[in-house]
Amino acid sequence: MKEKFPGVYLIDRKLATHNKTPGYRVYGEKTVKKKGKEYRMWDPHRSKVAAALAKGMKTFPISPGSSVLYLGASSGTTASHIADIAETVYCVEFSKRMMRELLPVCDRKQNMIPILADARHPWEYSNTIANADVLIQDVAQPDQAGILLNNYDTFKFKHALLSIKARSINSAKDPKKVFKAEKKKLTQKFEILEQLSLEPYEEDHMLLNLKAK
Ligand SMILES: C[S@@+](CC[C@H](N)C(=O)[O-])C[C@H]1O[C@@H](n2cnc3c(N)ncnc32)[C@H](O)[C@@H]1O
Repeated sequence: MKEKFPGVYLIDRKLATHNKTPGYRVYGEKTVKKKGKEYRMWDPHRSKVAAALAKGMKTFPISPGSSVLYLGASSGTTASHIADIAETVYCVEFSKRMMRELLPVCDRKQNMIPILADARHPWEYSNTIANADVLIQDVAQPDQAGILLNNYDTFKFKHALLSIKARSINSAKDPKKVFKAEKKKLTQKFEILEQLSLEPYEEDHMLLNLKAK
């Protein structure tokens, strides 16, 4: 076993996080015991952050002390692994159906804070969040860069991992052109540290690793 980044492990070359709630699994993931500790295998087919790590992301902004704002938490698959690594994960999700699945996960993983709100309206949740060092955004919306910039104006996080789904922005346009246009909107306020295509795990998706200027 090797620690790839603080809190992110490689077990037989596969990604894993140290399970902060031993015995509890979130999405049927495998668990492995090593030296008395339990690890949850982190599936890159189920998580875009894991896909980016599997594709060789060189810097990872989340560490054990991080406070993370997660936009598009869904049922908590990726957010639960982030919660194994970070101190606090604020999980914003606007679908009531997904929130019903997320709530029992947050009940067990108590550093995950569920927030039923629209990521396009950060003022809806700004009072709930003490501070956020890192943003993770995975929302299938037409204005993905705009949503990130709006949240930046409110929370002033230092780093962000943005998953861009080209087809949600424009299904007719060449994904390369869509990615270029989204990146251009971000460069005034962010340095693009890395851009990773998520294929073969996800088609027409890119993950941007961003640092505030
Ligand atoms: C692709 S899923 C996220 C999967 C999740 N990131 C994971 O890896 O476990 C996208 C989620 O974003 C949510 N979403 C889309 N638009 C949103 C918005 N404007 N505000 C909050 N959540 C949104 C959807 O309901 C959906 O659950």
